Amino acid sequence: MIMKKAILSLGFIFLSFIMFSQQKSLDQKVDSVMNLMTLEEKIGQMNQYNDDWTATGPATVDNDKATQIRNGQVGSLLNCMGTERTRSWQKIALESRMKIPLIFGQDVIHGYKTTFPIPLAESCSWDLDAMELSARIAATEASASGIQWTFAPMVDIARDPRWGRVMEGAGEDPYLGSLIAAARVRGFQGNKPEDINSVIACAKHYAAYGAAIGGRDYNSVDMSDRLLWEVYLPPFKAAADAGVATFMTSFNDLNGVPATENKYLLSDILKGKWGFKGFVVSDWGAIGELINHGTAKNSYEAAESAIKAGCDMDMESRCYKNNLAQLVKDKKVSIALIDDAVKRILRVKFELGLFDDPYRYCNQIRENQELNNPEHPKAARQIAEKSIVLLKNENHLLPLSKNIKTIAFIGPLVKSLKQNKGFWDVEVPGVDSSFIVSQWQGLKKKVGSGTTLLYARGCNIEGDNKEGFPEAIDIAKQADVVILSIGESRDMTGEARSRSNINIPGVQEDLLKALLATGKPVVVLINAGRPLVFNYTADHATAILYTWWLGSEAGDAIADVLFGDYNPSAKLTITFPGSVGQIPIYYSHFNTGRPATSDTNRYYKSAYTDLSIYPKYEFGYGLSYTNFNYSDLKLSKKEMKGNDQIEASVTITNTGEYDGDEIVQLYLRDRFGSICRPVEELKDFKKIQLKKGESKTIKFIINKEKLSFYNQKLQWAAEPGEFDLMIGASSKDIRLKDSFELIN
Ligand code: BGC
Repeated sequence: MIMKKAILSLGFIFLSFIMFSQQKSLDQKVDSVMNLMTLEEKIGQMNQYNDDWTATGPATVDNDKATQIRNGQVGSLLNCMGTERTRSWQKIALESRMKIPLIFGQDVIHGYKTTFPIPLAESCSWDLDAMELSARIAATEASASGIQWTFAPMVDIARDPRWGRVMEGAGEDPYLGSLIAAARVRGFQGNKPEDINSVIACAKHYAAYGAAIGGRDYNSVDMSDRLLWEVYLPPFKAAADAGVATFMTSFNDLNGVPATENKYLLSDILKGKWGFKGFVVSDWGAIGELINHGTAKNSYEAAESAIKAGCDMDMESRCYKNNLAQLVKDKKVSIALIDDAVKRILRVKFELGLFDDPYRYCNQIRENQELNNPEHPKAARQIAEKSIVLLKNENHLLPLSKNIKTIAFIGPLVKSLKQNKGFWDVEVPGVDSSFIVSQWQGLKKKVGSGTTLLYARGCNIEGDNKEGFPEAIDIAKQADVVILSIGESRDMTGEARSRSNINIPGVQEDLLKALLATGKPVVVLINAGRPLVFNYTADHATAILYTWWLGSEAGDAIADVLFGDYNPSAKLTITFPGSVGQIPIYYSHFNTGRPATSDTNRYYKSAYTDLSIYPKYEFGYGLSYTNFNYSDLKLSKKEMKGNDQIEASVTITNTGEYDGDEIVQLYLRDRFGSICRPVEELKDFKKIQLKKGESKTIKFIINKEKLSFYNQKLQWAAEPGEFDLMIGASSKDIRLKDSFELIN
């Protein structure tokens, strides 16, 4: 009898699934599943586990994971990749009573198999289409490999290069960061979540994680509401407006309230004011960490606080799984709260088409095709070229001629493969590093048979061993030009990789000194995930390319730039300090009451007595092999009333010897406000292509929105008064200026 009842009820559930027909609205479909679920099954949907074989945080090992999934106690897995592996877990989930499919999440941060430049590098392209494309390709590959959800984009504004996670974001500027956040969301999610080659995105880490005190990872954040709204929240808002399906809470506390239990952030702003309909996942173990934060005595209190704040899914801490049922029983947590979280999660699963076909992402043929799609490396190479920043080019040493007789290619990073991928690359099951193009291979392919390429390692990235110097000096002496590839190792910048010393490590700059002593010109390639401090190199190298971590096509992209097949166009999206002591240093600072205007007049000024006030390289900086002249700035009017717009036009001419791209930047300054306003703020830019000798006139539209800011009452408004308008090639290299007035 019992058996018969069970079969009948199973049949009923199955029938209900079939009845999720097209004509039912999404909410009806979700409700029809919810109506059949027990409390335990609902809580199961809110529980996310790490798979057993890779971990991106301190992992808990459960020997009965399969049993828990079969019991409907798990809604999602992370770090589980490949059609075979995801299929096997999905199969177990479908053995559960409710047969609700798992959703597989993964940190697909800058590519899946095909690896693109680290996000900070890519942001220096200022090329929104390129960034959207790289996210699109990453989504195509990841979704073909069983994944439906990426924990990206990371949209944290970061102004402290000691913080290892600067590499994951788009730099220091909220305007540019917001555009990039939206582009990446569009790229990952495609047109519709149910498209088989889309993954849902996750705006993280909400919020203000990038402002960790002292640049120490996971550290507290204390900031004014005005700064939060004006600088740190805009990229999250932009991601929400672009339709991002999920948000991840950050590890930090914000003004004393951990983000994971921060009702103001999660419920009032995100789900309230912004009307976010997706779901919120905690960061790894972050609900459990509320105990360490000192705001919860135990996991029971932690679960209560996180769910009440608006955190829907628990990544890895097990606080929800172990406590929510009891919390409901004790009437501490209402069933309505649980229902809201589960509905949000189920809605996304429906949107992804997982209820129609839980195995739709487990197609091995598609996996093989997409992971070997020849178009993907081509795109990765182009984006990598666009991310390389030319910092210095004395005597026009670059681009190199393809007829050079002898090149000495020296350094610990010349022949590496995996290093090029950078931190947060994905270890795709069954894929080794042989598809990555090393810098050595890239150069070898580029030069003709008349060029001799010599190699020496010279030294290691770290340590003080100089035994390799003589060999390096010897080949430098035989060469016409030296290329030296130095920097960090890939895992020196990333999560939990905060550093107080951000110099180029080891004896690498000593090696440069020794090579320069040969009298040969030296091109330095700096490989890094963050802005490093490298004053010796900056002041003495003949040419410098900041190559970051460029991904699987690094070698070819670097060779393209070295030999002028691509004319560098990237511009820094984060300020490079000249010393750690200057940090935090960013371009859009306030003027202060005692502004320092030069390094020679520091006393009783807002300056250091022992340090320059200037960064080494400013926001927006980056050279080209050609030159651009800026002329004819014209404003359509000098007064703006009501909802008027002002059109600013400017003519850019390529006056140099090469075709090239220029990123023309528009900055504004509100001269006098009810509160202090930054000395300049990026409000628009255009990336244009100009043939040698060509001119183009470009137009910018200034509207009230661009003049608005959060006033003391946190109202977004523009205040009447005078504004400076600056157009330049960087935040410092302002070429043309004018001003206008907002009348009312
Ligand atoms: C990181 C997140 C990441 C998660 C899952 C955490 O340690 O902070 O950015 O998505 O792990 O790997």
